[in-house]
Amino acid sequence: MIAIEEVSKRYADGTVAVDCLSLQIPNHSITVLVGPSGCGKTTTLRMINRMIEPSSGTIRVDGEDIQHKPVNALRRSMGYVIQNAGLFQHRTILDNIATVPRLLGWSKQRARDRAAELMERVGLDPVMARRYPYQLSGGQQQRVGVARALAADPPILLMDEPFSAVDPVVRRGLQEELLRIQGELGKAIVFVTHDMDEAITVGDRIAVMRTGGKLAQFAAPDELLSSPADQFVEEFLGGDRGIRGLSFLSTRDLELDRSRVFPVGTDRKQLAQSTGPQPHVLITDADGKPLGWADPSVWDGDVEALTPYGQSFEVGRDSLRIALDRAVLSPTGHAVAVDGAGRVLGTAGQERVGAAIRAARQRRAAESPDDPSEDSAQVKAVR
Ligand SMILES: Nc1ncnc2c1ncn2[C@@H]1O[C@H](COP(=O)(O)OP(=O)(O)O)[C@@H](O)[C@H]1O
Ligand SMILES: [Mg+2]
Repeated sequence: MIAIEEVSKRYADGTVAVDCLSLQIPNHSITVLVGPSGCGKTTTLRMINRMIEPSSGTIRVDGEDIQHKPVNALRRSMGYVIQNAGLFQHRTILDNIATVPRLLGWSKQRARDRAAELMERVGLDPVMARRYPYQLSGGQQQRVGVARALAADPPILLMDEPFSAVDPVVRRGLQEELLRIQGELGKAIVFVTHDMDEAITVGDRIAVMRTGGKLAQFAAPDELLSSPADQFVEEFLGGDRGIRGLSFLSTRDLELDRSRVFPVGTDRKQLAQSTGPQPHVLITDADGKPLGWADPSVWDGDVEALTPYGQSFEVGRDSLRIALDRAVLSPTGHAVAVDGAGRVLGTAGQERVGAAIRAARQRRAAESPDDPSEDSAQVKAVR
């Protein structure tokens, strides 16, 4: 656990970069510092590894004031990743990753073995080991940066806008990779970004900072989206926080309509009787997997003539945001719900999703805010 206690930083020219900041950064989780350019994120991060000394206040790691720790030992316990990776251009990828183990006196062979293992961990092809940084794409270099920071297996990882310089698609891949690696390694990660979407994607807890180095709000992403502390946070979140907040609500308790699902070959008279005011039924194959929508008053039983159902959602795994998205995109206004094997469990129209959203909100409101909801933990990876 990293404890930042009433820490301020005033630079020599009088700029107050960080103003009486207090934050508790737990182990085994990703804490994001987010805010506009110049709000003191980098300064805060660098005070944690003592690249910058605070003007006042205390930072503790596992209870111990970092001022009392030898600076080298402190930094060895913290991997550091920056934008554009900051690789050594004249060293191969393998030697870049092996840098810290070599500094720690590991044998060349052991350090290189470790580097090769980390290349695999961050999803880099082994053929890149002998290349130089300029021979890699920006996204690949960023993976090398992460591997290098992890080389000596530090308990803490400090990441300063690590993915800000790569294009959105690569960035999304890097974010997913980071979440996967964190799932395996469980570090204490402090992640700086100016991008709220990125903060919400990777963060377990998010510290929103405002210009002048002040903390505006410190909360879990779903809490931030549902209850921004003030207008600054609300504006920084952007205009669709209601929809985005649905990413944290599970489809587990969504009440499905099972009355309009039929296996292929069902008697057409039976289909026609079952539809009620809404004409469409969902036809499934012999395994129960969806084939498409049919209007029994006109459908002749030909599977080729079914209306495509688009994309389904998996109950319990996908969020209500995804369920709503599927319902909005569905030609019938009804989303197709499947189990882990892709078999249809039922359908859900926009009203059913709406009812589930209201029920989840009521449950959420009844929970204590200190008790992180099971919903958000479960939906974490599949927003
Ligand atoms: N060495 C420095 N001397 C004076 N001012 C600085 C120095 N480094 C940063 N600043 C100022 O401190 C504020 C916070 O900077 P920084 O921590 O880099 O913000 P961020 O990372 O959020 O963009 C900014 O106003 C910046 O101009
Ligand atoms: Mg910065």
